[in-house]
Amino acid sequence: LFAAPTDFLKGVVAMDGLPPGDRVEVCFAGRSNVGKSSLINALTGRKGLARASNTPGRTQEINFFTTTGGPYLVDLPGYGFANAPVKVVEKWQRLLKAYLSGRATLRRAFVLIDSRHGVKAVDEEIMALLDKSAVTFQAVLTKSDKVKENDRAKVLAQVRGALSKHPAAFPELVVTSSEKGWGIDTLRAIIATLE
Ligand code: GTP
Ligand code: MG
Repeated sequence: LFAAPTDFLKGVVAMDGLPPGDRVEVCFAGRSNVGKSSLINALTGRKGLARASNTPGRTQEINFFTTTGGPYLVDLPGYGFANAPVKVVEKWQRLLKAYLSGRATLRRAFVLIDSRHGVKAVDEEIMALLDKSAVTFQAVLTKSDKVKENDRAKVLAQVRGALSKHPAAFPELVVTSSEKGWGIDTLRAIIATLE
């Protein structure tokens, strides 16, 4: 799946720009700056494929990447604080919500949670939307290289507690670091099982 080339297909700014649902897809959602684009780069082994940056609000479109024989990988704009004009942010937040609740071929949403911060109110909002839309979602802890073992356990417990309240949540979560490559193989294996 990931050994073969992954390519950028298109960036989408409105629902009518979505590519045809001719295969399944998985998406990467999460607060601005949580590490969505970096995770896609780590998964595909292509550093500059999805644009990552330290500026919250870097990804402003829904970006589709193709895998050979596998699902589309979909990089989403972040939610929460973004370093962009309010009107622009509102537009992409509406698009994000429309996408998360109205894409028939969306097989799983990975909801990325910063290992240092745990589940926040805006994450709860997105999880509630996914419950309502019956989209199975799986939590992925990011940037785990940035926390100490003790703190990691605390955040894990907080995240597990939050997930237990959401019917659409997949019970197992994945701990990752795109920087160190931790958890990346596990996540690849999960994606490879989705059809
Ligand atoms: P938006 O598109 O703005 O919503 O952000 P994003 O969620 O796509 O985050 P992005 O991948 O752009 O990463 C944000 C910042 O976090 C960048 O400076 C990354 O280098 C950094 N980062 C991402 N993943 C990791 C990680 O696993 N470890 C560390 N230490 N830094 C990371
Ligand atoms: Mg991004």
